[in-house]
Amino acid sequence: MFVADATADSGRVENVSRVPLRPLISRAAERLEAAGVHSPRTDAEFLAAHLLGIERSRLALVPMLTAEQVAEFEKLIDRRAERIPLQHLTGIAAMGELDLAVGPGVFVPRPETELLFAWALGRLEGIGHEHTPVVVDLCTGSGALALAIAHARPDIEVHAVEIDPAAREWAQRNADRQAAAGDTPIALHAGDVTDPRILSGLNGRVDVVVSNPPYIPEGAGLDPEVADHDPHLALFGGPDGLSVIRPMIPTIARLLRPGGVTAVEHDDTNGSQVAALLAATGHFDGITEHSDLAGKPRFVTARRTA
Ligand SMILES: C[S@@+](CC[C@H](N)C(=O)[O-])C[C@H]1O[C@@H](n2cnc3c(N)ncnc32)[C@H](O)[C@@H]1O
Repeated sequence: MFVADATADSGRVENVSRVPLRPLISRAAERLEAAGVHSPRTDAEFLAAHLLGIERSRLALVPMLTAEQVAEFEKLIDRRAERIPLQHLTGIAAMGELDLAVGPGVFVPRPETELLFAWALGRLEGIGHEHTPVVVDLCTGSGALALAIAHARPDIEVHAVEIDPAAREWAQRNADRQAAAGDTPIALHAGDVTDPRILSGLNGRVDVVVSNPPYIPEGAGLDPEVADHDPHLALFGGPDGLSVIRPMIPTIARLLRPGGVTAVEHDDTNGSQVAALLAATGHFDGITEHSDLAGKPRFVTARRTA
């Protein structure tokens, strides 16, 4: 039974046995908006869907919640209003066709990186008739790019490098789950992508190197979800945002076979600088700057010359 006038001034629902979902979501969205959350309604819907164990698109089929469900939903909204990332509350973030496990200690994969992922998959089309294609994901975090590529292309060899043990634990968990689900296992390496010896066994053998490295210039203003919850090591790339990208470029040049390609994500202030760094090595052509869906410079691609 729905009890009319069931909200207190706080917007909370009290003494209710059955509550309609739609107004509950509207009130939650207002609360999240007041807390400064950027996509309040979407987040309220995702949290309701997560609680109910259904797709967000099916929420309309769940008209009423029990009092226990309402209490759980309000707890989730409380935590989201504290600017805890949505993905830490649901425990998952998407990349390609995968839902990756994420939480404290690992960077939450972002939708803009899907463009880099799609570019890499496009470049892999047509490779694989003469040799097993090899892909390397530098700075893998949760394993997002490496695992999404391995899922889409079971015929290829995928390596991923991560320096942070906490992030590597998440990547290993995701890798184990995907392997158990039947994907080709990836090779997860502990290491520094700027180390001149990293993955030296793959020198000149790699078809595609992808990387979403730390690239935010130190001191940039960030939302609390990012500043307080993504690991510092995952975010910042020194004063100019290039402190990992700059020394990683020789690694990319060393690993790629002639004709192999790379895609490197970067801060929106650094598109031309990353292109210039690649050009300055003399090892790349076809250097191209790409924008994200918001029209901001987001990743640079290039081809290894002979
Ligand atoms: C922005 S996060 C991206 C993670 C993942 N590629 C994604 O798109 O979700 C950057 C990752 O690089 C790792 N990292 C930072 N410096 C590194 C280095 N020198 N060598 C290897 N990994 C590094 C961080 O720990 C973090 O997991």
